[in-house]
Amino acid sequence: MNKRLLYVCCFIVSCIIVLSQCVSKQRSTGLRGEQFAGAATCAGCHKNIYDSYLATAHYNTSHPASQSTVKGNFNDTFIYSNAMKVVMEARDSGLFQAGYVNDTLQELHRFDIAIGSGRKAQTFLYWEAGKYFQLPVSYFVSAHAWANSPGFPAAHPKFDRMIPSTCFGCHSSMVGVKSTEMTGLHITEQFEKNQLVYGIDCERCHGPGAEHVAFHTAHPQEQQAKYMTKTGSLKNQQKLDMCAVCHSGLKTPQRSVFDFRPGDKLSDYIYADITRPAKPSEMDVHGTQYQLFTASKCYIKSENMNCSSCHNPHSGDKQEVFSQRCMSCHTTASHNFCKLTTLPEAVLAKNCIDCHMPALPSGSITLLTNGHLSPTPDSIRTHLITVYGDETKKVIARLTKKL
Ligand code: HEC
Ligand code: HEC
Ligand code: HEC
Ligand code: HEC
Ligand code: HEC
Ligand code: HEC
Ligand code: HEC
Repeated sequence: MNKRLLYVCCFIVSCIIVLSQCVSKQRSTGLRGEQFAGAATCAGCHKNIYDSYLATAHYNTSHPASQSTVKGNFNDTFIYSNAMKVVMEARDSGLFQAGYVNDTLQELHRFDIAIGSGRKAQTFLYWEAGKYFQLPVSYFVSAHAWANSPGFPAAHPKFDRMIPSTCFGCHSSMVGVKSTEMTGLHITEQFEKNQLVYGIDCERCHGPGAEHVAFHTAHPQEQQAKYMTKTGSLKNQQKLDMCAVCHSGLKTPQRSVFDFRPGDKLSDYIYADITRPAKPSEMDVHGTQYQLFTASKCYIKSENMNCSSCHNPHSGDKQEVFSQRCMSCHTTASHNFCKLTTLPEAVLAKNCIDCHMPALPSGSITLLTNGHLSPTPDSIRTHLITVYGDETKKVIARLTKKL
């Protein structure tokens, strides 16, 4: 056998063994244990942060499915062929995706969980016999339409795609796993019903806070945070790792990512990736913000730049704010302002990101909508900050039309 192949096989097998050990570990009290207080408790003393956080994609990335959390319209149909269709049905007993062949009902499954805040897309899960399955029809926001779930067959609805806990590792704060079974290289997980902490909450990023809450409740005079990691005192790589846990793409876990705490090293939780393309230009823009950003000159040539240099973790910022962030380093005074000379400085100053961090099509998130022959890719803001010739042409054309 080829040496590399052998290495890859050994690697996969060892990953599965470690993975099964870490996910089958029993979690004692409650879903996350007594160390955790829950986000609502934090609101008591951090009201402003809590209120703005409720509008973030992190908070909204998973919800129990309901008329208010599911973005699409009901009693609408997704058509596969003349004979086959799925109807989004609002019945008295709940919301369902119903699969029909020649108008005869074949499959009926409930929208139980909505994944995705609905900035771009939402996909839905149903629960059956201890497992989560993805429903065949997702919602594609930019098309305002239902669409075939990414990677699903185009010719017929598929209702049996099982969802692993890794999905919840990036889209929730905790999921209750009852058991993990292995048949060969195949893993089947059994979940605890309704044992899910929806959204990415305060303690998912900051670590458990019950002791912090108890201390500050008992000592309301104390202004120094106790029993809580001081994010400001972390090293830059530790700050990056807090976000990279979920923003560096799908990886093979060494330990459950739910155990990750601020200050931890991400490399202790995942295996170094041997299959990912080494060149940033070959990476998918989806989910690899960490790799793309750290390959950018802005990061390489400056000290201590991290995700918070541009993003406020507690609110979703608007576009103009980002150009301001660029100009905290790139100014005419320091001779590293934009070198493009065809547009006035005042125009450049409002549009840095459209030219240097353009939204590019994702190869991995593509959705097929009714009446289209090929799927439409979702477009995602690249984090490789550099000069993009073609995008610049488009932006110049758009901007000069307005001038
Ligand atoms: C009883 C009041 C109280 C509650 C409830 C509370 N905190 Fe705090 N927290 C404080 C005080 C006081 C500080 C220090 C002053 C400040 O930074 O606001 C603080 C600071 C912090 C800091 C900043 C640490 C630093 O110095 O960098 C974080 C992070 C934090 N709290 C997270 C949480 C989380 C998460 C929760 C909910 C699990 C929570 N807090 C609930 C009182 C509270
Ligand atoms: C537990 C996993 C997880 C962690 C940790 C995490 N994110 Fe996210 N983040 C997500 C997911 C999932 C989405 C997509 C949410 C959606 O739209 O459904 C997202 C979306 C975002 C977005 C786009 C949404 C918006 O409001 O513009 C930004 C920006 C972002 N994350 C930044 C960060 C930063 C900065 C950190 C570190 C401080 C971080 N994330 C930590 C999982 C995570
Ligand atoms: C996506 C990860 C993430 C989530 C979710 C999150 N935080 Fe933070 N928080 C951070 C980061 C990163 C910093 C440090 C920001 C910086 O470097 O400026 C921070 C800083 C803080 C601080 C200290 C600085 C300040 O702004 O006062 C407090 C207090 C805090 N967070 C509380 C909370 C509370 C309460 C919640 C939930 C309502 C929450 N955080 C949710 C990542 C997060
Ligand atoms: C390694 C972390 C990670 C895993 C695992 C993961 N996602 Fe995501 N997902 C993200 C991030 C980050 C985004 C935000 C898009 C981006 O990359 O900019 C996202 C975006 C999405 C969106 C679009 C949300 C929006 O409105 O923009 C959906 C839907 C989604 N994921 C579903 C899933 C499902 C279903 C699974 C499991 C089969 C899954 N994801 C596994 C990190 C992850
Ligand atoms: C923390 C400071 C800092 C911030 C914030 C920052 N940059 Fe940079 N950027 C740099 C440094 C340092 C370089 C390297 C300059 C050099 O090579 O002399 C750089 C390089 C660049 C380059 C050249 C890249 C290449 O491949 O040649 C571009 C384009 C750029 N930045 C655009 C931006 C944009 C757009 C933003 C905002 C979204 C931004 N920068 C934010 C520090 C920063
Ligand atoms: C130099 C500034 C800058 C830095 C540093 C930065 N981002 Fe961003 N990020 C942006 C801009 C600009 C957008 C686009 C915002 C928009 O379109 O509203 C963005 C968007 C995103 C999105 C949403 C992408 C999409 O199109 O759905 C995610 C997720 C994200 N950032 C995560 C991160 C993470 C994680 C880090 C750290 C590894 C990071 N960002 C570092 C500027 C930055
Ligand atoms: C209309 C598109 C466009 C806008 C808007 C724009 N740039 Fe540029 N930028 C370019 C192009 C194209 C170049 C390469 C110019 C050249 O080398 O002749 C460039 C060059 C640069 C460079 C130097 C890169 C190098 O090779 O060293 C930096 C730094 C930079 N831009 C930062 C910014 C910042 C910061 C903003 C916002 C204040 C901005 N740009 C706005 C298109 C744009």
